[in-house]
Amino acid sequence: MLLDPTWRILRPLLFRLDPERAHRLTISTLHRAPRLATTVLRTLAGPVPPGLSRRLGPLTIPAPVGLAAGLDKDGEAPTVWPALGFGFVELGTVTALPQPGNPRPRLFRLPAERALINRMGFNNEGSAALARRLQRLRDRGDWPDVPVGANVGKSKVTPLDDRAVADDYRTSVTRLRDVVDYLAINVSSPNTPGLRTLQAVAPLRRLVGSVLSAAGDRPVFVKLAPDFEPEELAEVVEGIIAEGATGIIATNTTTSRPGTTGRLGEEGGLSGAPLWPLARSRIQTVLDTAAGRVPVVGVGGIHRVDQVAELLDAGCAAVQLYTGLIYEGPGLVRRLHHGLASGGGA
Ligand SMILES: Cc1cc2nc3c(=O)[nH]c(=O)nc-3n(C[C@H](O)[C@H](O)[C@H](O)COP(=O)(O)O)c2cc1C
Repeated sequence: MLLDPTWRILRPLLFRLDPERAHRLTISTLHRAPRLATTVLRTLAGPVPPGLSRRLGPLTIPAPVGLAAGLDKDGEAPTVWPALGFGFVELGTVTALPQPGNPRPRLFRLPAERALINRMGFNNEGSAALARRLQRLRDRGDWPDVPVGANVGKSKVTPLDDRAVADDYRTSVTRLRDVVDYLAINVSSPNTPGLRTLQAVAPLRRLVGSVLSAAGDRPVFVKLAPDFEPEELAEVVEGIIAEGATGIIATNTTTSRPGTTGRLGEEGGLSGAPLWPLARSRIQTVLDTAAGRVPVVGVGGIHRVDQVAELLDAGCAAVQLYTGLIYEGPGLVRRLHHGLASGGGA
């Protein structure tokens, strides 16, 4: 497995760059030479071990670890991620209107904690651009052999009234529904002013209902924040299920600052290892409330195979990660799947 030694050389070089530059450099390299990158990474990572295939609601995924939203917002490298072993890929968040996001700097590393803080603010080229890019991929017969979803958020300039918000999400959903395998509604980013108010039960139910009617027969997942009290979260989950959503993705980044992560003093969402205890407990609340009625995707601070095994044993249909990839390297996904195939645990 040459991915890990390669990463040991690359990581210190990338970590000397500003985090966003390192990210852009990586994504644009993969974007410019997707076939080469896919072949090289597939060879280095090797095949996903057999026996890990499972259902994620109506979807079949070849392995339970998926790529979380935010890493490939504009779908620049959707064919490359499965080569690392990801069993499904979530692109986005995209918004109806293209937008630049927040001023830089807006992405920060906390290497000692293996964490990131970001306040990107949905920088993206817009849902129409993503739909065109994905349609071209389909036309060329290059569609990945794992499910690919699009995560959809609210355009910053759209006012926070029910009808305007619903129209904004529906515009993106209508553009994307025929080119993706699933949709995810993002109401949980801390970096779009007021977005999280959409997680209150009544507005969220109206939004989910409206998005579902625009999504046709595409599965629709709802992605939630970890910054709820458990009782409140249970109510929200009930509402989402009552409305008929396909499943729930929990959790997004947190605005809280567990441990020593507050010392950086930057605003935004915290991800990575220090998020795990909070995410784990909120995922349990979602699982207990959903009680098997809808599939739950567990996300937040996953860096090790025992965490994946624990979430799957607790009842998650699948998991996703982002920050773990940055700190543990691109060989992480393969290690997790091989660890699971050989009995899970630490
Ligand atoms: C730089 C960065 C950007 C992100 N952007 C998005 C996004 O656009 N949409 C979204 O739903 N989640 C986004 N996330 C949240 C992740 O998808 C994930 O829910 C969160 O980081 C927790 O998982 P992790 O600890 O494995 O990173 C982002 C995370 C990071 C670190």
